[in-house]
Amino acid sequence: MRALHLRTADVSVVLVAAGTGLPRIAHWGAVLGELSAADLDELARVTVPPVVSNTPDVPVQPSIVPTQAEGWLGSGGLRGHRDTGWTTPRFAVRDVAHESESVVEYDAIDEGAGLALRLRVELTREGLLRTRARLTNTGELPYTVDELTPVLAVPARATELLDLTGRHLRERSPQRSPFTLGTHLRESLRGRTGHDASTILAAGTPAFGFRSGEVWAVHVAWSGNHRALAERVPFGDAILAGGEALLPGEVRLAAGESYQTPWLYGSYGAGLDAVAARFHAFLRGRAQHPSSPRPVLLNVWEAVYFDHDLAALERLADLAAEAGVERYVLDDGWFRHRRDDTAGLGDWYVDEGVWPDGLGPLIDHVHARGMQFGLWFEPEMINLDSDLAREHPEWIMAPGDRLPVESRSQQVLNLSIPAAYEHVLARIDAILSEYAIDYVKWDHNRDLIEAATRATGAAAVHEQTLAFYRLLAELRQRHPALEIESCASGGGRVDLGVLELTDRVWTSDTIDALERQQIQRYTSLLVPPEMMGAHIGAERAHTTGRRHDLAFRAGTAVFGHLGIEWDLTEATAGQREELAGWIAFHRGVRALLHTGAVVHGDHPDPALTVHGVVAPDGSDALFALTAVTTGVAAPPRRVLLPGLDPAARYRVEIAGPAGVPAGTRMPPWLTPGPAVLPGAVLTTVGVEAPALFPEQLLLLRVTRI
Ligand code: GLA
Repeated sequence: MRALHLRTADVSVVLVAAGTGLPRIAHWGAVLGELSAADLDELARVTVPPVVSNTPDVPVQPSIVPTQAEGWLGSGGLRGHRDTGWTTPRFAVRDVAHESESVVEYDAIDEGAGLALRLRVELTREGLLRTRARLTNTGELPYTVDELTPVLAVPARATELLDLTGRHLRERSPQRSPFTLGTHLRESLRGRTGHDASTILAAGTPAFGFRSGEVWAVHVAWSGNHRALAERVPFGDAILAGGEALLPGEVRLAAGESYQTPWLYGSYGAGLDAVAARFHAFLRGRAQHPSSPRPVLLNVWEAVYFDHDLAALERLADLAAEAGVERYVLDDGWFRHRRDDTAGLGDWYVDEGVWPDGLGPLIDHVHARGMQFGLWFEPEMINLDSDLAREHPEWIMAPGDRLPVESRSQQVLNLSIPAAYEHVLARIDAILSEYAIDYVKWDHNRDLIEAATRATGAAAVHEQTLAFYRLLAELRQRHPALEIESCASGGGRVDLGVLELTDRVWTSDTIDALERQQIQRYTSLLVPPEMMGAHIGAERAHTTGRRHDLAFRAGTAVFGHLGIEWDLTEATAGQREELAGWIAFHRGVRALLHTGAVVHGDHPDPALTVHGVVAPDGSDALFALTAVTTGVAAPPRRVLLPGLDPAARYRVEIAGPAGVPAGTRMPPWLTPGPAVLPGAVLTTVGVEAPALFPEQLLLLRVTRI
């Protein structure tokens, strides 16, 4: 047996391979310290279970890419075929390149099957385990890949599951279940990541929470069809797995061709906050991670919708600048034929009727007020009522003559057709070159249904996803200063594939602050606050009709990448002044919020939530105590303020421009002034919480002294 130990300061992964087989995960979890070669051999030996009756005569422990040749009948791994028959390769590892302490690549081949596999396993600096596989057809006949899904074994003590689901306006909704025998499969065939994407599929020890329990979570870094699954069988290891979900015949490899899986990420930690912290640190460690203070933006969508009028838009820009906004985003409706959402997608020319002098006057107006300018696109889409569709009906995704059902009155432009790709690239590039545009909001407002190349009927979601990535990369290369937001009817495209090439996600189309409390809480399992678009909307939310005080709307939004999406011409002078106070507050704390550790309290009363951000050196923190509903018991009692340095002393005081919301019953400790306590007391004894009215929040600043 060959065993390899990958480790960081707080995670160890031990990969064990028997003979020339592919490696399995013998340990993924807490760091093990120094292990000698002999220790590793022993670890490999003691992690082999006995063979039980009526099972294969070898222990069933799936490798990272199992096939039936291992005796594995569970999910994941490689499945594929040739027209001449089914092949279940038995790969023999030819070479192991241990590139560094934490990166290993296995080169394996099954000559008889005509397949070669390169499996890469990395433990990143931040302790993320990530793996991907590349399969090459070394045979002469074409080989169809039905599935190539890497598998990560997790310990049997992970007996509970948590994953996310949702819908438009309600993304990232958590669901918990026991990790029972059988398969918990989360498959998305939407051709985009999906509002209901699992985002994170976590297995953990009983009752794991944000701060407690051991948790293993996977994420598939892919913006097209994908699946994540958790599976437990009566014998053999429990697994978490994930990869691309391929449509029938979608990846057919000719001789010499290869298919590469997306990265499957695994994050292990003590509690969900630790799991999330690895993703945040990983994103923050990228060279391209947005490093400037995140500009507070104003998006005009909910203020004007399709009603584009230069004077009104300039007035909005004036009010935005006065309030402290730093980036102004012109949303949908600026291009030809786009008077509502039934026409125009594909016609990426400034509409001459609505914008007789082009976008120049508005952009100049915005820049003159010291703000950046952003513009909306939806490059992968096409309306039948557009010049583009009339000219190139063959560029529309369809299984043949018949068109797929429409969704938001639109169809999908097939970017796997080189001419269609070049056309869109050229049009966006032309607009970005003609105008001084700092930011693009990149939207994607429908699922891909019957997404095929019209001329051949071949499924094209895989190629479409790759073309989308290429398009982003190409535009970024041509316009290096450009920032891009990933939007898909709100949070329909939130994953580490798209985040490699973008700077922000539009978290949800709902800016109802109460909905946002939960959406942001769970989006932050993957996305750090500085990449999570969070807007202050109108008093009455457009998506739910709920009314909230500005303090609740703003106190919710300040924790992300702040924006305003509110018709400021309808706001009173007093409201605009209050808003300016919140923007100034955010600008004062964003350096903390956008670099610190995101923490959540596991408060026993679901009526009250606790979340915050603690500076990396523990010197500073901002917490929000939020009454999301009324509690059965009142007051909500003590809250723990997690993540502080236990040895440091802190001053705790009320923060934010609004102070204490009306109607709040304050605990006596908060009224005379700041309290001073060691971090250990704040994180383990906690402090009595105020009794807030529902849908109100209180901010606490916790500063080391
Ligand atoms: C989607 C987005 C919105 C807005 C509209 C414009 O729904 O999520 O923010 O841009 O499209 O049509």
